[in-house]
This record gives sequence, C-alpha cells and structure tokens, in this order.
Amino acid sequence: MKVTIIGSGYVGLVTGACLAEMGNHVVCLDVDSRKIEILNSGGIPIHEPGLQEIVQRNARAGRLEFTTDVEAAVSHGTLQFIAVGTPPDEDGSADLQYVLAAARNIGKSMTDYKVVIDKSTVPVGTADKVKAAIAEELQKRGVQLEFAVASNPEFLKEGAAVADFMRPDRVVVGAEDERAILLLRALYQPFVRNRDRMMVMDIRSAEFTKYAANAMLATRISFMNELSRVAERLGADIELVRVGIGSDPRIGTQFLYAGAGYGGSCFPKDVKALIRIAADAGEPSRMLDAVEAVNDAQKRVLTEKIVARYGKDLSGKTFAMWGLAFKPNTDDMREAPSRVVIAALLEMGAQVRAYDPVASEEAQRVLLSEDGSPQKGLVFADSSSAALEGADALIIITEWKEFRTPDFDALREALKDKLVFDGRNLYDPQLIRSFGLEYLSIGRP
Ligand code: UDX
Repeated sequence: MKVTIIGSGYVGLVTGACLAEMGNHVVCLDVDSRKIEILNSGGIPIHEPGLQEIVQRNARAGRLEFTTDVEAAVSHGTLQFIAVGTPPDEDGSADLQYVLAAARNIGKSMTDYKVVIDKSTVPVGTADKVKAAIAEELQKRGVQLEFAVASNPEFLKEGAAVADFMRPDRVVVGAEDERAILLLRALYQPFVRNRDRMMVMDIRSAEFTKYAANAMLATRISFMNELSRVAERLGADIELVRVGIGSDPRIGTQFLYAGAGYGGSCFPKDVKALIRIAADAGEPSRMLDAVEAVNDAQKRVLTEKIVARYGKDLSGKTFAMWGLAFKPNTDDMREAPSRVVIAALLEMGAQVRAYDPVASEEAQRVLLSEDGSPQKGLVFADSSSAALEGADALIIITEWKEFRTPDFDALREALKDKLVFDGRNLYDPQLIRSFGLEYLSIGRP
C-alpha cells in the first residue's frame, strides 16, 4: 500500500521503516532538512537497536523514501499517518499545533481519498479537530473529496521499538469509516497474524486508551517507589516484596521496579496531559497528581541519600556516575533522572565524572549551563572505569547491562570512600558488601 508518514521523529521513523519492511511503499516527510539529509545518506538521527538496518534495506529497495516536499508526500499515500510531536503546553496539555498544521497540509494538497491517521499521542477529541481542519482547507479550495480520520496510538518502548512494532501486543485502531477500517486491517494483518490482537473501536476510546495505558504504568512505578521508601524505614527489602507480589497473576511481574524515578518522552508528558484532560472534563484526578508528585520526589532520592551521608557542602568531592539516559538502550535524555541528580550535585559544589554507553554525546548537548557553555564540574568519561578515576563514590542511575557484573575489587580500589549509591538496585547487597564496599540502594535495608 502507499503510505505517507508526516513527522520522521522517533515514532514516525519506526512506523515508516517497519511498514516498508512488510512491502508497503512509504514516504516519510519532515520539516527538518538536516534530519532528512541524514536519512537520505543512510544514517539515522536517533539510537534505536535494529532500526538502521531496516531503514537502509528498505531505502535501497526503493520502498522507503525521505523528503521535505509536503505536496509530493501528501499526494503519495492513501494512508497518511500524522506522527509529529505533541509537546506539553505551559498548563501541561498537549500542544496540537503541529498535528493541526499537518492536517491542514493534507487538506491543501490532497487530490483523492485519504485515510488520515493520528499516531501522535493526542487528547480525546483531536480526531474531530483534525477532521475539521482538513474539511476547512478543502472548502477553501472549493473541492469535494472524501477522507476519513482514524486514531492509531503507538505503544512502542524506546530501545525495543522495532521489535514492539513487528510483534505488537495489540494494535488499537479507532475508526468509523468502513473503508478506512478495511485498509487499516489489511495494513496491520501481517503484524498481528492473530486477529484478536487488532482492536477496532470508536475513535474517542482509542485516543483515551493510550493515556490510560501510560498512566497505569506510571502509577505502578510511583506506587512501588512509594512502597520502597516505607520498606526502607521498616527494614524490609522492596526487591523481595516485588517478587512476592508479582507472582500473583493479577498483579504481574512487570513494571514493578523501584528506582530513581521514571523519565522519557512519554510518561511525564502523558501523565501531565491526562491530569489536564481529566480536570477539563470535570473529573480532576487525585491519583495522577500523586503519581506525578511521587515521581518528582523519587528523582531526588539519590541526592537525599548523598546529602545524608556527606552533608550539603560537597566541594572537594568527586562522584562517578554510571548511566545518563532515562533508561538503557537509548540515548534519550528527556526527563532523565540523571539530570536532576547532576544539577543538585553541581549546585552543592561536587565534581561529576559521568559515563553512558551511548547517551554521552546527547548528554553533552543538553547538559549545558545557561549561557550554552559546558557546565563547570561536569566531565564526561569514555568508559565506566575512566569515570571512577579520582572519585570518592559511585552513583548508578541507568541499568545498562555492562554495569550488571562489574569487577568489584577494582571498584573498591578506585573509590576513595568505597561507597556505591545504586538507583537501580543492580546488586545483591550481601555480595557487594562482601567485597568491602558500602552500598546504598533503593528500598532495601
Ligand atoms: C513508554 C511506554 O512503555 C510505551 O508503551 C509508550 O508508547 C511510551 O512510553 P518508554 O518511554 O520508551 O515507553 O519507556 P519505558 O520502558 O516504558 O520506561 C519508562 C520509564 O519508567 C523509564 O524511566 C524506566 O526507567 C522507568 N521504569 C520502568 C521504572 O522506574 N520501573 C519499572 O519497573 C519500569
């Protein structure tokens, strides 16, 4: 089928590449010419396992094209996916200007039947606005063309996005137009083989499903983080409690890890947006306010432990930091807990030697002082061992695989205070202590 993807960011690029992989002819559009240049020269602008191979293979086969030409892109696809950003407004609600601009562009250039699909995470009711924007442009042109609007939220996890797209738990489609439903069923059929995984519903329910899913997951994490604080006071071990409750199939084992707080592009933004949506709908959410507040507090937990140990004046102290990205297998620094910890440590006069297997470059780009220069006291190391040089203590923030079984003897020798703050509970406390290291983790005695 002929598919156009408007917005070649994280979601758009993964969607476009994976649809091309199944034989569709896909054109990806973006306003950012630098991004399109990178893609046209065989590179990809983000770090995502497996994505580059798929992009290159399909581009070579002529099934995947990248362009900044709006008209050409719109005239190509029968299916037009809108996958542009929906950043939070000042009041937390999703800013729809890019989504609606994309809709207008479709209305301005389309010449035949189109199915316009909202892939971006958008508030309930957006499909109506998209429909109105397209209709208005058609009216201005004085032409009558049929089109349908559908909602098809994405549930991709960064770091596993290609696998998630190729083998989805479910594909949610909100649509009312019969032909649009037929086309979308055909498009996703190769991915869902098992038909039960394709869920067709009304548009508003589909739009709401995305927020509900992310809010539920964020709630689990904040709940576990809150329990971890209580566990610590009670002398209980949150890791044992996690296993104890997770074995109940009604609870399930996933997304129960206490840690340094959730980050990324989705949870913080979507929880804020749903708080707004609920309030606007006249049903303010007390739970989601708490989910957000607990997460903000959780991002400060490591700093609190450091202050409890060293006091508030950290001048003369050097901290090694392992992990910067908001989670492993990505270079994404958006809302990463590391940012909160680094800011606090530098503020208190400490030196930080940071290392991340892939996010160092991105971190150097975003962690700047107000005038745009590198921050004083923050150094980026090339390896986990280089980060330890001259450090008093180690702080672990992201659970990359390469941090899971370090040389504990070398760690003890390198750290002046023989002390590890672990925001991801990577080690068995008894084991690491047997190597002569002091160990402070989350929610464990
Ligand atoms: C999330 C959703 O999982 C995905 O379905 C949606 O489409 C986009 O948002 P993503 O932001 O890529 O995906 O990250 P995810 O793997 O869900 O992790 C989010 C955050 O929660 C990370 O900061 C992670 O460290 C944290 N987390 C996750 C925990 O603190 N504990 C857990 O048990 C799980």
